[in-house]
Amino acid sequence: MTSKRRLFVTTALPYANGPFHIGHIMEYIQADTWVRFQRMRGHEVHFVGADDAHGAPIMIAAEKAGVTPQRFVADIAAERPRYLDGFHIRFDNWHSTDAPENHQLAQDIYRALRRSGLIASREIEQFYDPVKGMFLPDRYIKGHCPKCDAADQYGDACEVCGAVYGPTELRRPYSVLSGATPEMRRSEHFFFQLSSARCAEFLRDWTQGAGAHGAPRLQPEVLNKVREWFATDADGHGGLADWDISRDAPYFGIEVPDAPGKYFYVWLDAPIGYLASLKNHFDKGQAAAHWHAQSRTTQSYEEFVADDAVEQVHFIGKDIVYFHTLFWPAMLHFSGRKTPSQVNVHGFVTVGGEKMSKSRGTGISPLKYLDLGLNPEWLRYYLAAKMSARVEDVDFTAEDFVARVNADLVGKYVNIASRAARFITQHFDGELRYLGTTEPLLGAARALADDVATALDGREYARALREIMAHADRINEAFDAAQPWVLAKDEARRAELHDACARALAGFWQLSVLLAPMLPATASRVARELFGLDRDFVWSDCSALPTRVAPYRHLMQRVDAKLLERLFEADAPTPTPTATAAPAPAPAAAAESPTISIDDFARIDLRVARIVDAAAVEGSTKLLRLTLDAGERNAATGEPRLRNVFSGIASAYAPAALVGRLTVMVANLAPRKMKFGVSEGMVLAASADDEKARAGIYLLDPHAGAEPGMRVR
Ligand code: 2FM
Ligand code: ZN
Repeated sequence: MTSKRRLFVTTALPYANGPFHIGHIMEYIQADTWVRFQRMRGHEVHFVGADDAHGAPIMIAAEKAGVTPQRFVADIAAERPRYLDGFHIRFDNWHSTDAPENHQLAQDIYRALRRSGLIASREIEQFYDPVKGMFLPDRYIKGHCPKCDAADQYGDACEVCGAVYGPTELRRPYSVLSGATPEMRRSEHFFFQLSSARCAEFLRDWTQGAGAHGAPRLQPEVLNKVREWFATDADGHGGLADWDISRDAPYFGIEVPDAPGKYFYVWLDAPIGYLASLKNHFDKGQAAAHWHAQSRTTQSYEEFVADDAVEQVHFIGKDIVYFHTLFWPAMLHFSGRKTPSQVNVHGFVTVGGEKMSKSRGTGISPLKYLDLGLNPEWLRYYLAAKMSARVEDVDFTAEDFVARVNADLVGKYVNIASRAARFITQHFDGELRYLGTTEPLLGAARALADDVATALDGREYARALREIMAHADRINEAFDAAQPWVLAKDEARRAELHDACARALAGFWQLSVLLAPMLPATASRVARELFGLDRDFVWSDCSALPTRVAPYRHLMQRVDAKLLERLFEADAPTPTPTATAAPAPAPAAAAESPTISIDDFARIDLRVARIVDAAAVEGSTKLLRLTLDAGERNAATGEPRLRNVFSGIASAYAPAALVGRLTVMVANLAPRKMKFGVSEGMVLAASADDEKARAGIYLLDPHAGAEPGMRVR
């Protein structure tokens, strides 16, 4: 085996403004699988994550929620373990980019870059919201499209005609935050000079170079993309541009040294958060504790990062390649630090072929997956079975999931143990005995383990699992060919029965070792409960033979397709107001929701709204598209602002019957991107708890006299 590697592994730091979605979980599963594999090989791994806490969106979300950004971020962080533990994702440390270590490191790195002569400052012109008293990031400016005049378009592109433009080109621009007309103002910003010859030269070499063990740092398709970014035309235009790394107060971030009122742009301190989490991990002494057993007793963060042998490996999605292959290595290098050895880029998760939105996290919910009682290892296995080292999207479909998991994990893998162990318990008192030489068996196991190791190390998980499952097929075939049920009836053939079962169980042992990175909990039970080890499997166990087996205990359930269907069911877009008295025989229904305070209730902005239009939605039998007037006006133009809301009431109402009626809407619900468009609120309707048994959906209808825009409280 190669000598012991020292690995520092990270996944992209998630913004602390929402729960994890399936895309996060996929990335963590990819990285956790790799980390577990490296550990099983005996390598030293420090696997860390953190919340990406800073930036304008989080500051604004916190303000809306009426809490400090620190509090807002802490509340999000408190939810992380449920997901991570739930899917057996085992970071050594989870930290925050707002932690003191990160403030210190970011300022140190900035000072070093300044000493290297790579920081410049210049004035730029930007939209400013005079009501909020802040500069506006592009996404907070809307207006009329300069091409087609459609209202309420963002500052970069028109959703109606598809035109692409800059925020200053919008007609009648307004601030999304206050409705005020933004002004152009000048302000000094700091820039990291990525366009300098020094940086360009370094990055050209770095991106094409090799990390550890001569392996390329970047995947071929990533390198191609990076080359496009470097490219200049005949006039020397294009190429890398300087990077604006500062933002003006108010901003939730880290202060730029010697520049009062200036903060680092969130993307400057975000990757530094990798180092901050690692440092926090070492400072807490966790790292030493983990590796004490492997004779590294005196470790400090400083020693670790100074060691040239340490490999720094990042797992990220394809949308943040620019930051990780240009800004980040340049920041590290020119501040006198070591650069990443590998940046491993993956594609997105699509659900039933549909793209999900990163910020809104549409698609299946990881928490719902766990709450439904679906086995986390099914998901780990299923995703791994579709992952390669290429930058490809991974599609999740229900049918495929059920077929894959049931056929492979239950039908091929677990089945071996349940069949063979039974004979051993019944006839041989748990003892395993092999007839003749076991050398070919072990030789094949070693060869397979080497192939699978190469595939896993290279993140070719799908290939690894194909090889593992092909081996499972061979074990099952050999067992069937031996006809143990026939042998069992013949006293004279006991030794043959014993051998066939022992070999099948040796195969099961090997499969379990190879699958352990994907199925850590099951493999651990197999090692400890079935084979009586007092530890989890390590990779070299592949070429060992078990000598005893305990009576078989159930290892893994088949996927219940019904349960999975529920995972894919969209949660009802219209809630059942709990105040509705439920008719018998379900009198307790209303009492089942937890009590909330009046303040909790006040956070929901309920408004009377007029349905000015209603239409069927092509491709959906459940939804109607409602156009609602809740008495709102565009602050800049004074024009009425209408909302587009999708509501699952098509079974109960003909669209024409709704036009002109009043109802009640939730006005401060985050917009939700659906297959058919963005839904900007929700209308309230009543329905029975067991909707199927007692059909009927009843829109709320205010008494005469109510007017659009009136608050419901
Ligand atoms: O795109 C994102 O979700 C960012 N929060 C990722 C940051 S990765 C690293 F740089 F911290
Ligand atoms: Zn347009």
